[in-house]
Amino acid sequence: MMYAQMVKSTGNAVKSPTEMTEQERAFQARIDAGEKIEPKEWMPDGYRKTLIRQIGQHAHSEIVGQLPEGNWITRAPTLERKAILLAKVQDEAGHGLYLYCAAETLGVSRDELLTALHEGRMKYSSIFNYPTLTWADIGAVGWLVDGAAIMNQVPLQRCSYGPYSRAMVRICKEESFHQRQGYDIMMKMANGSDAQRAMAQDALNRFWYPSLMMFGPSDAESVHSAQSMAWKIKIDTNDGLRQKFVDQTVPQAEYLGLTIPDENVKYNEETGHYDYSDPDWSEFFDVLRGNGPCNKERLGARVKAWENGAWVRDGLMANAAKRSAKVAAE
Ligand SMILES: [Fe+2]
Ligand SMILES: [Fe+2]
Repeated sequence: MMYAQMVKSTGNAVKSPTEMTEQERAFQARIDAGEKIEPKEWMPDGYRKTLIRQIGQHAHSEIVGQLPEGNWITRAPTLERKAILLAKVQDEAGHGLYLYCAAETLGVSRDELLTALHEGRMKYSSIFNYPTLTWADIGAVGWLVDGAAIMNQVPLQRCSYGPYSRAMVRICKEESFHQRQGYDIMMKMANGSDAQRAMAQDALNRFWYPSLMMFGPSDAESVHSAQSMAWKIKIDTNDGLRQKFVDQTVPQAEYLGLTIPDENVKYNEETGHYDYSDPDWSEFFDVLRGNGPCNKERLGARVKAWENGAWVRDGLMANAAKRSAKVAAE
């Protein structure tokens, strides 16, 4: 699923009430009643582990997601666009920080999460392994990538884990600004010169299928999804969200006068939805395995930032140790 694609759950099928312990039954009953689970409360081990993976992956996506757009801050076409893009990229850093905090309430440290990312044991969304080649790509990223993020994150406001659901409320407000700023760039480009319109179309061509991949492969047979849905840490199916995204985006592309790069995109009177072609899932799995166009560059940039920041962390720790020694001596 989206910023957290293919998060492994417990690996077991969903337990029926008779297979559950009394504690598990009481926990499930609270979830079914729409109650929020808070950090210090009892939770099954699998619930905790799945949430750590999901929130951690989501946090990493926010942080790594700054890189493709950061690439254009120095080259934004006007001062206004530069200020808007700076604010947007800064928002993403904030999203990452809320989410690391939410993960920490489950008993994992930020250092552990970051080490797992840097060692390739945790992932971030596949979308950020694609390059941003032109200014129109910044429009396409805001319109499509942040647009897909909203599709996924709005329902997560109802997620059963309190800290995660509350983080989503603020994040969603900011995401809708991101989506609109992207669409605004696309509007300018699509209504500009021939060269600008061609650039906008090219950005849509390259970002369309990677955006559809953000929702993850069809989860019809996934035991992971079923358990996560029973726990309400996943609210909608991947296919359901993808369809919603297509239904929202096709008319927006029409309004821009741009063409979705899929001959099969057509409104289906019977279903009331747009038909569309699936992305090439072999490409998706290949990108997840580390073979996307920018995987090495993205992870390399994060590892370098972590190493370059070591002296700051060391200094803060030394200062904290000095202070607590002083307090102890008083
Ligand atoms: Fe974000
Ligand atoms: Fe965003």
